Parts: sequence; C-alpha cells; structure tokens
Amino acid sequence: MKLFIDTADLKEIQEAAQWGVIDGVTTNPSLVAKTGNKDFKQVVQEITKLIDGPISAETISSDAKGMVEEGQKYAKWHKNIVIKVPMTEDGIQACKKLADEGIRVNVTLVFSANQALLAAKAGAYFVSPFVGRIDDAGADGMQLVRDIVQIYKNYGFKTQVLAASIRHPVHVLDTAKAGADVATCPYKVLKQLFRHPLTDKGVRQFLDDWKKLQSG
Ligand code: E4P
Repeated sequence: MKLFIDTADLKEIQEAAQWGVIDGVTTNPSLVAKTGNKDFKQVVQEITKLIDGPISAETISSDAKGMVEEGQKYAKWHKNIVIKVPMTEDGIQACKKLADEGIRVNVTLVFSANQALLAAKAGAYFVSPFVGRIDDAGADGMQLVRDIVQIYKNYGFKTQVLAASIRHPVHVLDTAKAGADVATCPYKVLKQLFRHPLTDKGVRQFLDDWKKLQSG
C-alpha cells in the first residue's frame, strides 16, 4: 500500500520525505489556505521538488469546462501532478475529458460506492473516499473503502482507491486490511505510525545496558 502525506505544508513534506517511505502528496484548497501562501503554482511546484510521486492539485471551478482548463494548466507544471476534481456531474465530465487526454485525475469528495463506480467509469486514476468525514457523520467510513475495493475488483477497474480524510493510525491499518491502494495521512498521523511504547522502552533499555557495560 502506498502512503501519501495529506498537506500543503512544505516543512512537513520536507521532513516526511526524509523518511523515505512517502509515495505522494494530496492537497486541497483548505490545506493550501492553511499555509497562507496565495501562489498556488509556487506551492505545488515546491512540493514536486520534495517528493517524486503523484501530487494531487485540486481545481476550484464549478463547471466542467473550467475544471478541464485548470487541469490542463496544472498538468503542464510538472509530470507528477494529478488533477483533483470534485464528485459532481461536472467533475465526472471533466475527469473523462482529462483522462482521455492522458491526464491523471483524482475524483475527490466521494461518500458512496455508486459515486466511486462513476469515477472509475470516467477513467479516474484515483478515487478518494473520505473516511473520517463519514465517521464524523455517524456512519462507517471504512466500510465504504471495502465496498469500493470489492466493486473495482469485481469488474477489473484500474482506478486506485485512495483512502482520504484519515484521522488516526487505526484508519491506516484498516485501509491496508481492506486492500486499498493508498492511504493519504496528515503529518500527525504519519508520525503516530512510528510510535509504540514498547519500542521506546526497548530502545531506552538497550542504551542503558550499553552505557553500564562501558562504565563497568
Ligand atoms: C485528501 O485528498 C482530502 O482532501 C483530505 O484527506 C480531507 O481530509 P479532512 O476530512 O480531514 O479535511
């Protein structure tokens, strides 16, 4: 399973890149707004220098024509850019058009398996079910990921399932168990994946014993 970082914060991406286990980046307008940098092109281009993998950049038009124009423009910025479009009629129309031109598309804001079916039929490269937001609404977000994985398998769709809106390490574990292709995680969740109290305790113990040996 691929691990993406879900942020537009260059410091976070820079640190995560050093770990050597991050395969890509997802951004959205809210994440870019958080950085305070109004130059979207600059933010995205800086990200492409840090991680050599798919970088999702989201369109902000509400009509298909505008999304296609934005997508064509972003795609020229760097070969790794994947165009994010929302799961609307216009988004699906734009996805089909961009996919037909060989531009990779991530269909975002997916909350049902039928939406994921439409995204796959439109040639999406990624589909992004929003696990945490479904959980927040009192339903089971991970069940949606399992359903999409099953449906794509049934029909041999090539669209990759990218679990988004990940809130904690158990979401990552369940995404992997569901057989999804990618989990995109906030920096904080990625850091949590490293941690286990017994690892910390074990490291301390080994170092203490080593020091005792040296001083003995
Ligand atoms: C990523 O592609 C999504 O935009 C992101 O995971 C949404 O996460 P949120 O529900 O925490 O805003």
